[in-house]
Amino acid sequence: MTIAVIGSKGQLGHELTALAASRGVTAAAVDLPEVDITNPASARAFLNSVRPLVVVNAAAYTNVDGAESHQDAAFAVNSRGPEILAKICADLNIPLIHISTDYVFDGTKKTPYRESDPVHPLGIYGLSKEEGERKVRSILEAHLIIRTAWLYSPFGKNFVKTMLGLGKEREEVRVVADQYGSPTSAADLAGAILKIITAFFQEKSPRWGTYHFTGKGVTTWHGFAETVFEMARNHVPLKVKKVRPVPTEAYPTPVKRPKYSVLDCSSIRRHWGISTRPWQDSLQETLHRIFTHATGEP
Ligand SMILES: NC(=O)c1ccc[n+]([C@@H]2O[C@H](COP(=O)([O-])OP(=O)(O)OC[C@H]3O[C@@H](n4cnc5c(N)ncnc54)[C@H](OP(=O)(O)O)[C@@H]3O)[C@@H](O)[C@H]2O)c1
Repeated sequence: MTIAVIGSKGQLGHELTALAASRGVTAAAVDLPEVDITNPASARAFLNSVRPLVVVNAAAYTNVDGAESHQDAAFAVNSRGPEILAKICADLNIPLIHISTDYVFDGTKKTPYRESDPVHPLGIYGLSKEEGERKVRSILEAHLIIRTAWLYSPFGKNFVKTMLGLGKEREEVRVVADQYGSPTSAADLAGAILKIITAFFQEKSPRWGTYHFTGKGVTTWHGFAETVFEMARNHVPLKVKKVRPVPTEAYPTPVKRPKYSVLDCSSIRRHWGISTRPWQDSLQETLHRIFTHATGEP
């Protein structure tokens, strides 16, 4: 079985490629510059030559603040890219798994967001991702859109690695304590995607559509940072003594974030048998990999 992983140098793409290899699944793994999803000829040539059983689009423009000043780039990668992939997949009769985000919601709800809740992105990143979702839905029936949140891994830029850097340098770190969400290990998401892929080839009529997947449990960025430091101290000495909770207003960013972006993950469990793990367990595992350099690289 060959699957195509596009965006293979990113957090999710990296984990998915490594996990596939460890399970004997062949992954045709590509990223820029070999394949550019905003270029139809580039994406078509790749998928035509590989003819995978499924395409996973893990490529994205993920710089939430940068998207405000690079709107064209954000819409090209997050909306036009999935549109191009969906058209090619429709022509070649290949299902597409496309990854999206909690930032399609505005965070005004007080209970976990369900897949059917109305979307209302607060910034360009969210708007571009939401437009990408709509394009995929309208072009290709055989699609899964998996929304995730607060993604981290041993690779690339993410909150966990930023906190580890700050914790080594500073005695006090100030972290926003009034935004709520669910940290998600990219390795867990990769595992869920592989499980779904295995499942949908055994199903007569797969339940295509939109699903949520995150780590289990809710915290704030402040709670997340405190847990990172507490667990990291089992591996390395840290300089940080105080993690000061601050309101969003104390840490101005070019774009507003949702105050509450917890995703209800019951549908992916019901339809695909995918259960989520407490986010702390997954964090512990990722920190262990970071500090033992067991990053699972292929
Ligand atoms: N990170 C989060 O906290 C988070 C939260 C919720 C949802 N998500 C979603 O989860 C998915 C995976 O995120 P991630 O954190 O793994 O992303 P990531 O680490 O930023 O990786 C994205 C990858 O896509 C590549 N890429 C960008 N433009 C491309 C193009 N035109 N053609 C081909 N590849 C391209 C990037 O290359 P360059 O680095 O060279 O640009 C990068 O290697 C994305 O859909 C994202 O929107 C992420």
